[in-house]
Amino acid sequence: MKKLNWGMIGGGNGSQIGPAHRLAAGLDGHFSFVAGALDHDPAAGRAFAQSLGIAADRAYGDWREMLEGERNRADKIDLVTVATPNATHYEISKAFLQAGITVLCEKPMTVTEGEAEDLVLTARASGVICAVNYGYTGYALVRHMRAMVARGDIGRVRLVVAEFAHGHHADEADANNPRVRWRYDPAQAGVSAQFADCGIHALHMASFVTGQDVAKLSADFASCLPSRVLEDDAMVNFRMDGGTVGRLWTSSVAIGRQHGLAIQVFGETGGLRWSQEQPNQLFYMPLGQRLQVIERGEGNLSPEADRASRVTVGHAEGMPLAFGNIYRDLAESLFAARVDRAPDPAISLFPTAEDGLRSIAAIHAAVASAAQDGVWVDARPALFR
Ligand code: NAI
Repeated sequence: MKKLNWGMIGGGNGSQIGPAHRLAAGLDGHFSFVAGALDHDPAAGRAFAQSLGIAADRAYGDWREMLEGERNRADKIDLVTVATPNATHYEISKAFLQAGITVLCEKPMTVTEGEAEDLVLTARASGVICAVNYGYTGYALVRHMRAMVARGDIGRVRLVVAEFAHGHHADEADANNPRVRWRYDPAQAGVSAQFADCGIHALHMASFVTGQDVAKLSADFASCLPSRVLEDDAMVNFRMDGGTVGRLWTSSVAIGRQHGLAIQVFGETGGLRWSQEQPNQLFYMPLGQRLQVIERGEGNLSPEADRASRVTVGHAEGMPLAFGNIYRDLAESLFAARVDRAPDPAISLFPTAEDGLRSIAAIHAAVASAAQDGVWVDARPALFR
C-alpha cells in the first residue's frame, strides 16, 4: 500500500516532544515526513524542517500557511501531528479536521471543555479521525494490563492508584526558562499546569487499563513555588463509573523523581503494577500466590501485547516505540479507509477526541474542586451525561 504523508506542527528544534514523534512516525515505514510548521519562529521553523529533509515548498512558516499549502495538493498530508503549546491545539486541530486531514493532537487536547466538545463533534461530522496522544497507552505491557483486567485475571477492580511525579520544575532559578514558564502561564497552558500536563496521563491510563470512565473527583492543588499562578503539585481522589476507587498524585517538584508515571491496579483476586521507567516488566500478584514478573515479549501474552511488542524478549523497548504503536494504529486505520474497510477495533487502541474531552472535563472538575477545598465534583463531560 502506498505510504501515507505526514506533517507536523510544533516540535521544533530543541522541543521536548518533537523528536519522539519523529522517531515514532518513522518506525514502521508507513509515513513519509513531507511537511511541517515546526516552530513559533517562522524562519527557524522553515530552516529546521529543511534540515530534516522536508522540501523547501513544504517547510512552512506557520500552520495557516501549511494548511493553505497542503489542502489542495494531490499528495496532501494524510495525518498532521499537533505538538504546540496547549492553547493553540484547538484552532489548529479544528482547521485541519475541517480540511479532511486526520489529526493526532498532543494532550491536553484543548483548554476549555467547549473546545473539546467542538473537536469531538467536528471529527464526527467530518468523518475524520481526531486522535489524542496519550502515547504511554502504546506500551505493550500497558495494553497487556488492560487485557488482563478485561478478561478478569484480577477480578473486580477495587482500587487504582496512579502517579506522575517528576522533579524537573523544582528549581526556582529555572522557573523563567521559556520552556518551563509556558506550562504555568494560564494564557498558554490553560486553567491547570501539572495536573493537565502530567496528571492527566495517569488519569487517562487509569481509565484505559480499567475500562472505566472517571465519574467524580476531589482535588487538592498546591503551587509549591510561590511565583507560580498554576499548580505544580496535585492530589486527586476519584471514583470510576464501574465503582472502582481511584487515587492520583502528580508533581513537578518531586526532586529526585525522573519521569514518574506509574500505575497499580488492585482487584478482588490479584494486583498489577507497572512503571514507565521500567516498561518491559509488569508485576502481577495473584491472591495467595507468589509475585510473578511478566516480561514484554515473552510467549502467551495477550494479542494486544504481542502486536505492540517490537523486539524479542530481553531487549528493552522504550517510549518512542510506544508512541510508534499509536502511529501504527492510525496508519492501519487510514489504510483501511483507503479501501473502504472499517479498522479492526480490537487492534485500534489509539486514544480519541472522546478521551481528550473526558480529560478536559476532569481537568476543569479538578480545578473547581481544588478551588472549593476539595469538594467532590462531577467529572463527566456535559456531552456524555
Ligand atoms: P516545548 O516548549 O518543548 O516545544 C514546543 C514547540 O512548539 C517549540 O518548537 C515551539 O517553537 C513550537 N511552537 C510554539 N508555538 C507554535 C506555533 N504556533 N506553530 C508552530 N510551532 C509552534 O513543548 P513540548 O514539551 O514539546 O510540548 C508541546 C505539547 O506536547 C504540549 O501540548 C505538551 O503538553 C505536549 N507534551 C506531551 C507529552 C506526551 O507524553 N504525550 C510529553 C511532553 C509534552
